Order: sequence, then C-alpha cells, then structure tokens
Amino acid sequence: NWTMASFIDKEIERIRAVVGPTGQVVGAVSGGVDSTVAARLMKEAIGDRFHAVLVDNGVMRLNECQSVKAILKDRLGINLEVVDASDLFLDRLAGVTDPEKKRKIIGNTFIEVFEDQAAIIDKQSELSGHGKIDFLLQGTLYPDVIESISFKGPSATIKTHHNVGGLLENMRLKLIEPLRELFKDEVRALGKLLNIDDELVWRHPFPGPGIAIRCLGEVSRPQVQIARLADHIYIEEIKKAGLYRSISQAYAALLPIRSVGVMGDKRTYEQVIALRAVESTDFMTADWFPMPYDVLKRISNRIINEVKGVNRVVYDVSSKPPSTIEWE
Ligand code: XMP
Repeated sequence: NWTMASFIDKEIERIRAVVGPTGQVVGAVSGGVDSTVAARLMKEAIGDRFHAVLVDNGVMRLNECQSVKAILKDRLGINLEVVDASDLFLDRLAGVTDPEKKRKIIGNTFIEVFEDQAAIIDKQSELSGHGKIDFLLQGTLYPDVIESISFKGPSATIKTHHNVGGLLENMRLKLIEPLRELFKDEVRALGKLLNIDDELVWRHPFPGPGIAIRCLGEVSRPQVQIARLADHIYIEEIKKAGLYRSISQAYAALLPIRSVGVMGDKRTYEQVIALRAVESTDFMTADWFPMPYDVLKRISNRIINEVKGVNRVVYDVSSKPPSTIEWE
C-alpha cells in the first residue's frame, strides 16, 4: 500500500539512518521543484544539519534569487546560504557567443563557486564542533538514473552543471539522493504534501545556463536585463490567461539582430524578442503551443511598450525535432 505520505515518512527515516545523528549534508538548490523537494525532505529529516546553497549566476530570471530565498529560507525554514557570484559569471561570459562555450563556462564556474562555498561551510561546521560535511545532496530523479545508465547522449552536456564530482573526491563526500526512485509527477505530488508553494511545484523547467543561452550571441548585463524583463511579462500574461499549466515550458529569447521600427515620427532600430512555448511530456520531443491570438497581442504590446531596446516580437512555430526547445 504505497502512498506518497508513507513515502515521506519512510524516506525521512532512511535519511536519518544514512546520515546518522550528527552527520552534515550540503546541497545546491535552484528554485526548481526537484531541488526544493529534496531540500525540504532534508530539512524535515535533519534540520539545520542540511546546508543549502543557492548560487546567483547572474543569468537567473527576474527577482528569482530573492523569491527562491523568500520561500526556501523564510517560509520553509531551510538553512540556506545565497552566494552572489553574478559578477564572476558575467565577466567570464563577456565576448563569448558559442552556445557550448557558454554552457562550459557556466557549468565550470558553478562547480567552482559551489565547491568554495561547501569548503567554507565545512570549515565553519568543524570549528563550531559539529564535525565536517559528510554528504552531498542531489535531486536526481528516476529518469535521470535510467538516462545516465542507458545512454550518453546530449544529456551528458545537459547535466554538466550538476557534475560536482571533484567535490565528492576532494572532500570525500558521499552522495545522498532521496528522489532517485521518483518520476516528475510524483515529485510534484510530494511537493504539495510537503506544503511547498504551487509557484515552485508547477514551475517550468529552467536550464542551468539560464538566460545566457536565451540571449543569442553575446551575453552582457544590459542584454540579460532585456531578456529578463520580456520573459517576465510573457510569463505573467501566460499566467493571467490561465495557460501556465497547459504549457510545458515557455520563455522569451533575445535575438542578436536589429530591425527597423517606427515610434511617433521617428524611426527606431532595435532588437527582436522571440517567444517560445511548447507542450511536451519528456522534453525529448515537443510541439509548439497554439497560443491564443488575443494573448499574443497583449504580450507583444506590453513587451514593445515596456521593454526598452525592443521594437519587434515574433512567435516561434517550430516543433522538436528538428528544432530544439532552447534556441542555443
Ligand atoms: P533542448 O533545447 O535540447 O532542451 O530541446 C530540452 C530540455 O533541456 C533543457 N536544457 C538544459 N537544461 N542545462 C540544463 O540544465 C542545459 O545546458 C540545457 N540545455 C537545454 C531545456 O530547457 C529543455 O527543458
């Protein structure tokens, strides 16, 4: 008689048994449903002996860091440290246009920043008499387990930012993966039972390299800000229209081209926002989402009026394959 509620109790017992009465655990959180549910379970099982780290990489969504912190730390009481490394990430991204290079830079910088923070927590914990960190939390799901066993396809790249292997070796951490037997819908159900906000439970997936791969071409603070504002308006209008849950993933991309427009009696020469929305069950294939015209109209008007530097909005009508969900 397997229910989610009994899973929670059993998993909490299992975590306590594995970690022991004094064991310390560190783990990265992103604001996504997987890492949030995993962190929430750890908090329930071992309280402040679980140390969560949120790395601000400078390419997260608008106000994302603050809102994730407000939910995880202030509302759920998770022992969370936010590390603002946005300057480091954006400095290293300057002038880089190749998508795979962007991914590598972000992945490697993430590992570096997270490892440094883990080392700090390790030292603090030891100094305060609580002992060193023993475990690394990962929000691995069952499909990830299967995928990494059965094929080394693009997922090898997709998962690079999760690959904190050095940490496991250097600090001799052991892995703890409380979600490794679950599918995504089960994680969501678990999230609801654990009283996690709907906003996080139903959040669309967001790639590790974030807005860096949604600013096509060069990534700079002003470019990121344009993409961020447009994306915020887009998602806000999708939610207002009651469509957020019918869509698997939606975002705004900033194209590296300019086009001519007119404003009052002046010509403008500004950038283009591409809107992407797809329906998908596994993200291996995806259909473009038939966004109602009236919703598109509101979104387009708002983006052009409210986002400086944009004078044209287009809607992406490509499915995967052959197009990918991300533009880069
Ligand atoms: P594509 O663009 O390959 O994306 O159709 C499939 C799914 O994977 C996400 N994605 C990534 N996630 N790091 C991530 O963590 C990445 O580098 C990355 N690239 C794509 C994408 O958002 C979609 O959900």
